[in-house]
Amino acid sequence: MIREINWEEIMRWDEKYLIHTWASAQEYHGLPIAATEGNYLIMPDGTRLLDFFNQLYCVNAGQRNPYINARIKEALDRYGFLWDAYTSDYKATAAKLIIEDLLGKDGWAKKVRFANTGGEAVELACIFARHFTGKPVIATREYSYHGYSAGAGSVTAMLPAKSSISKAEPGVVQSVPGAVVSPTMVVPAPFCYRCSIGHTYPGCKKKGEKLPCILATERLIRNKGLDQVGAIITETIHGASTIHPPAEYLPQLRQLTKELGIVWITDEILVGCGRTGSWFAYQNYGVVPDIMTVAKGIVNSQIPASACIVNEEIAAFIDGHRWNHVSTFSGHPIAMAGIVATLEYMLEHNLPEKARISGKYLGKRLHELEQKHKSIGLIAGSGQLWQVELVKDRKTGEPIIAADRNSDFSGDQSKWPSKVVMYKAIEKGVLIGGFVPNTLRVGASLEVTNEEIDQAIAALDYALDFVDAMI
Ligand SMILES: Cc1ncc(COP(=O)(O)O)c(C=O)c1O
Repeated sequence: MIREINWEEIMRWDEKYLIHTWASAQEYHGLPIAATEGNYLIMPDGTRLLDFFNQLYCVNAGQRNPYINARIKEALDRYGFLWDAYTSDYKATAAKLIIEDLLGKDGWAKKVRFANTGGEAVELACIFARHFTGKPVIATREYSYHGYSAGAGSVTAMLPAKSSISKAEPGVVQSVPGAVVSPTMVVPAPFCYRCSIGHTYPGCKKKGEKLPCILATERLIRNKGLDQVGAIITETIHGASTIHPPAEYLPQLRQLTKELGIVWITDEILVGCGRTGSWFAYQNYGVVPDIMTVAKGIVNSQIPASACIVNEEIAAFIDGHRWNHVSTFSGHPIAMAGIVATLEYMLEHNLPEKARISGKYLGKRLHELEQKHKSIGLIAGSGQLWQVELVKDRKTGEPIIAADRNSDFSGDQSKWPSKVVMYKAIEKGVLIGGFVPNTLRVGASLEVTNEEIDQAIAALDYALDFVDAMI
């Protein structure tokens, strides 16, 4: 029996008692959602919003997936809570599914440790890498997002992700004092569309030579000192700031980490679990990492859970120690049941392959919009993870908002092309947009239908007329 909900009262409580994200209290407007289903969010008045944000690219097997729901309900009838010192069948099975069934054929992954959030999995990855190498510095890349907790936040280079913007003094961006606590360094991102070190792809490729961004990474790490730098962390594909690397980049980065003797941590919290049309995005590049983090899609986000997976050498090192880091909820039986159910469902229905196929259709439909809308400068992606760059001038690629990915997110965001698209597409019942000013990040669940893609493209077509009119 669902109780009657007084949504006016709910919205009042929401505004009055909650600390919100992305908006000051004065700016905040709540969006009430009464239920979710498949690719839709359902508002209290019954309006159905087609979600091409996929709620932060989390719900790979669709909202309220019936199989996963049923398995979680079953687990709730068996377990209340066990902390990590005890074995549940769900925790051991989740580990076996990840190491053998998903990663077995790649041969690198040996052990997994579970946590609760993506940021915590990144914390684990950094702790393991620092312990294993005995070196403090972890290199990260421009525009990266790895979480907001102290360690994960320290390897996050996306400018505004750890700051607040004063409303009293507009434009004043305040980083949290003391928030960057662990030693890191920043190296170039493989953002060929606007290369931050002044090169042009593919002209920058020279036969038998490393890409300039790889050479710069090498120079910066060597300059910091190989006695200091033990690892590099990458998003396999930048998620929050949405950058698809060129084909050569990750193979060359992997090679470089081997030459320098440093650990490669790849963060697949957003791009893993089928999103790009492969189980994991690194598989698209013919390389394997030393450490990988996953969250979001691994449990269809029906319950919080994340994992840090390590290779044989690091697993052997960890096995030689008493591992005293513990989180109360790591390995929670209900979360582990969620992982088991999600992976069983995804394996049985081969969701990565479905994403690969629907991604081809989505890509084709996006490219059709390119003919019609002069503001589209670049379309890149695969599966259910697409990037659309909106520009002043297609020939030069000049961004509409000059700060682009170096924006500190202060000022009036309603003029950002990504926000204009978001507000306009909502008029057509579709959620679509992005986190950085000039870039759309487009993708739904991995089981999205062609009809739903058509609906999203029609909304985008409508919204892009307004961006075209801005330039
Ligand atoms: C690539 C990446 N790493 C880490 C995180 C942090 O995960 P969480 O928000 O669950 O802490 C995110 C979140 O969006 C992410 O996209």
